[in-house]
Amino acid sequence: MLPISYSWKAARKALDNSIIYYRGQPVGTIAALDSSLGELNYSHCFVRDFAVSALAFLTEGETEIVRHFLTEVLHLQSRQKRMDCFQAGRGVMPASFKVETLLGTEELTADFGEHAIARVTPVDSVFWWLLILRAYVRATGHLSFAQQPEVQQGIRLILDLCLTTRFDLFPTLFVPDGSFTIDRRMGVDGHPLDIQVLFAVALQTSQEFLLPTPENAVYRQAVRDRLGHLVYHLRQYYWLDRHRLNEIYRYRVEEFGETAVNKFNIYPETIPDWLTDWLREGNGYFVGNLGSGRIDYRFFTQGNLLAVLTAVATEQQSEAIMNTIEHHWSELIADMPMKLCFPALEAQEWQIVTGSDPKNSPWSYHNGGSWPFLLWLLAAAAQKTGRVSLAQQALAIAETRLLEDQWPEYYDGKHGSLIGKQARLFQTWTIAGALAARNFLDNPNHLALINHDRAIAVSSCSLPVK
Ligand code: GLC
Repeated sequence: MLPISYSWKAARKALDNSIIYYRGQPVGTIAALDSSLGELNYSHCFVRDFAVSALAFLTEGETEIVRHFLTEVLHLQSRQKRMDCFQAGRGVMPASFKVETLLGTEELTADFGEHAIARVTPVDSVFWWLLILRAYVRATGHLSFAQQPEVQQGIRLILDLCLTTRFDLFPTLFVPDGSFTIDRRMGVDGHPLDIQVLFAVALQTSQEFLLPTPENAVYRQAVRDRLGHLVYHLRQYYWLDRHRLNEIYRYRVEEFGETAVNKFNIYPETIPDWLTDWLREGNGYFVGNLGSGRIDYRFFTQGNLLAVLTAVATEQQSEAIMNTIEHHWSELIADMPMKLCFPALEAQEWQIVTGSDPKNSPWSYHNGGSWPFLLWLLAAAAQKTGRVSLAQQALAIAETRLLEDQWPEYYDGKHGSLIGKQARLFQTWTIAGALAARNFLDNPNHLALINHDRAIAVSSCSLPVK
């Protein structure tokens, strides 16, 4: 065993090695320092990956890099009206960016998904940017940073994207497959949990930062209404525990009209075999997706843990989510914390849903692989729910192994015992996730960077929308 201080010093050094400089200033972190498997876009700074770096830096007392990142990504925010053909719509923020030298001058070039494998849309970037903005303001007390006219305009552009008139009846956001951390086909199109919880973070943050100006008035009202409906919808319809499972099991179907109990016409036959005994008394979680005639019963860790940190999960629901993780330790944490999603899609389901994607074969990568970057979320959620020892145990499993294995991107196998087949080493958010987790566990005050108030005006979606 290596002494604890050694691995954390090594982690901090590895994080510092990943810093990207632009015109002399630190602006971000590279996705991975390992180019042995081909660079692809791992030399870019990804917005979602930097959220984890930002929390590591802020909890280490470093704020400058986070400020520069926020400013530069705001400059990269798309200002064009979409003309179609792989162009980002107005308000979108890039999935990633890198520094290039053009005619002797350093420039930032961004990828809005138009270069990404399979041309996936980075819906989550705007939400992570807002999450980082709030954490920065909390860490520094510089509220004036968020009140600058350019930042206020950036927030309005994001809200234009999310609150626009649309076909959908639900208060959740409708997105294409692979539009967030899971950026490949995985059956996470429609209304995936991760996006919905990030959307709630964005609405809560906008509510906090939008100044009461005449220009913002309509946005402030729209944010308040949508947040209330969204949180109600998630708490009510995405929530699954034994009681609700039994309700679904006995559902009547084909109900019409206002009094329908089975509002989404879910067929009880969709309940997967693994679930009936898996969900014990006192356990519960938010399902992965909900739509007309559709529940995705898989457990998605990021969405569930973020829900604990926001207004989405009630105190009781937060407790039940942590119970689920504790009771299913050998499946969700096992040899490496923790599963991105559980269980894996296998056989014909894997073929149909992923398009026979070999990178997402069962118990690998996004499809049931283990991602240590999630440690920061586990630690923060554990701190909020008073379950610190649970996260301490998980971090103890990860710490020595991550250092010895050189900070892999992900692990494969039912128990996460193998370094992922195509995992990069020196993956920055693995390093940052572990470092931030340690800091969240060591100092409860850091929770304020990321924690949101649960008490918001929740309103039923069946009430007339003003
Ligand atoms: C992979 C992951 C994505 C991450 C990127 C950079 O594409 O799926 O979530 O942002 O690598 O680490």
